[in-house]
This record gives sequence, C-alpha cells and structure tokens, in this order.
Amino acid sequence: MKIDIITCLPEIFDGPITQSIVKRAQKKGLVEICIHDLRPFSDNIKKSIDDYAFGGGAGMVMMIEPIDRCISYLKKKTPYDEIIFMTPDGERLNQSMCNKLSLNKNIILLCGHYKGIDQRVRDHLITQEISIGDYVLSGGELAAMVVTDSLVRLIPGVLNDESSALTDSFQDSLLAPPVYTRPAVYKGWEVPKILLSGNDAAINDWRYEAAIKRTKDKRPHLLD
Ligand code: ADE
Repeated sequence: MKIDIITCLPEIFDGPITQSIVKRAQKKGLVEICIHDLRPFSDNIKKSIDDYAFGGGAGMVMMIEPIDRCISYLKKKTPYDEIIFMTPDGERLNQSMCNKLSLNKNIILLCGHYKGIDQRVRDHLITQEISIGDYVLSGGELAAMVVTDSLVRLIPGVLNDESSALTDSFQDSLLAPPVYTRPAVYKGWEVPKILLSGNDAAINDWRYEAAIKRTKDKRPHLLD
C-alpha cells in the first residue's frame, strides 16, 4: 500500500511515521508513506498557499491551485483509489471504514488548515472526506496520522501476530476483553483463574463473555 500525505506542515510527521509498527511496516516494504510539502507547489514568490475569503470574514482559506498542482503531479506517477480530505465535517472514521480503506493500493490524504479550503477542491479534486471525531483540530495532520496508523496495522504481515488485528476492539462490534500478564497476583489483586488453566476452549469462552460484558458496560450501542 502507498499513502501519500499532502500537508503544509511536513515536519509534524517526522515522529509518528518513523516509530514502532509504522516504521517496521515501511522497513518490511509493506507500506510506503510519502509526505509532500504543499508550499513548493505554490507559484507565487512568497510560496503562500492561502488567501482571504471571497465575501470577507475572518480566517484564511487554502487555495485550490497548489493543491491541484500537487495532486496532478502525484497522479502522473500513481493511479489513486481514493483522494481523501481530512476534515471535521467528513464521514466519521470507524473500524469498518479502516478495514475497507486498508484494502486500497494507493491513497492520498490531504490535510486541511486555516479557516478552510476552497470548496472547489472538495467538489472536484477529492473522492472522500473523513473526520476522526466531532471536535476541531488545528489541522488535518493529526487526523491523517490516525488514519495512517489505523490502516497500516491492518495490512497483512505488519503485526507480528497475524491474528492480533482481528481480535482488536470493534472488529466484531465488540470491545476486546481484558488482558493480563505476570505476576499472577500483585498486591493481592489476582488474575482470573481461568486464564491460568491452560484450557484453551474455556479461555476462549471466558474471553467472549468478558468482551460482551465490557461492551454492555462501556458501549452498549455497539450491541444494537
Ligand atoms: N481537521 C480538523 N479537525 C479534524 C477532525 N476532527 N477530523 C479530521 N480532520 C480534521
């Protein structure tokens, strides 16, 4: 899978995509993540990528030209399945969207900033709009990182234990059951005995029941 991220703040990505599972996935050649700075695609001397809103009002608006140029440049080399704009008024991300998105070969994540983006970008250049929740971030970069991380861990071969993405919370509309590790007793707080029994069938039953209980307690709407 290839993920191209278009941003006016490329440095923000230095940490998250060079660590942990995402780093390993790139090293293994399972995903290619490329960060593209929008500014060089501006044709004015100051390399600005935003301008005042027509009709007035506070806040700058991201211009269509640099974005169109950047997307056209990328499209010359790669056929994209989706060109996704990160925005708080997009479709809210959930696990089933992540599963679907992870099946794509090539995607672009476009990060918004400032007051907004020229509506013509949304009308003509992108194929999907995604929000990571009903709150407003200062830019789409953190949201693009969330999408990237959630997709990369679903790519076959990325996680060491192939089954572990499948047992994540939300994969079967249930939250994941509690997990424990050594010591079996800490300050008198004990691990459920069944998990120490070695009886795989009984442990699976316990985990299933525990997942249902946790879902009922914390997110009952998932059971609807
Ligand atoms: N950009 C700003 N806020 C956002 C959000 N909640 N989701 C996606 N992109 C955003």
